Amino acid sequence: MVRSFDARPLAPDVLDRVLDTARRAPSAGFSQGVDLLVLEGPAQTERYWDQALPDPAERSVFRWQGLLVAPVLVVVLTSPAAYGARYAEADKAGSRAGGPDAWTVPWWWVDGGMAAMLLLLAAVDEDLGASLFATAHPKSVLDAFGVPDDRLALATVALGHPAADEPGRSSKRPRRPLDDVVHRGHW
Ligand SMILES: Cc1cc2nc3c(=O)[nH]c(=O)nc-3n(C[C@H](O)[C@H](O)[C@H](O)COP(=O)(O)O)c2cc1C
Repeated sequence: MVRSFDARPLAPDVLDRVLDTARRAPSAGFSQGVDLLVLEGPAQTERYWDQALPDPAERSVFRWQGLLVAPVLVVVLTSPAAYGARYAEADKAGSRAGGPDAWTVPWWWVDGGMAAMLLLLAAVDEDLGASLFATAHPKSVLDAFGVPDDRLALATVALGHPAADEPGRSSKRPRRPLDDVVHRGHW
């Protein structure tokens, strides 16, 4: 995660490639219930921050000042209704997957995560920085951009060129070692 950007805009073809990679994320039943709200340039991104961090005093002490200037913000949205509709289609009738009520995991969130991860990876492929945050989605943000009421925001991915002074990983928390994470053959 890169949390400090310079304000340089992204070349349109670069951004389009990143977005098109996310479009190809896998989805349960190929429901394709994920949408991307793409905000480009200060007029649009400031409108986002005006809703997400409206208090000027709070914004001025916000820990990640370099995030506020990211030239692109992509809000990843998911639609539970799209999954209900897809799993009611004829080719899914009698499927062992059942419908959303039978699922142990709400796949609309899973699929949103798949698309978000592809945004992050595609950004790396384009030598960009990217950062995912999940804490700035009051309904007012979505309303400001006309997002339909049945869409749920799961994360925003900031995209841009990393600032020269980007500090790298902020957390001192170590990454868990492979042998701790991986359970081969048995827990
Ligand atoms: C669901 C989710 C929510 C996250 N929310 C935030 C956030 O609100 N703010 C933030 O700075 N980083 C957020 N992160 C990033 C993690 O802190 C980051 O992935 C972790 O520190 C490891 O750093 P790395 O991805 O740079 O290796 C989030 C990551 C995920 C997957």
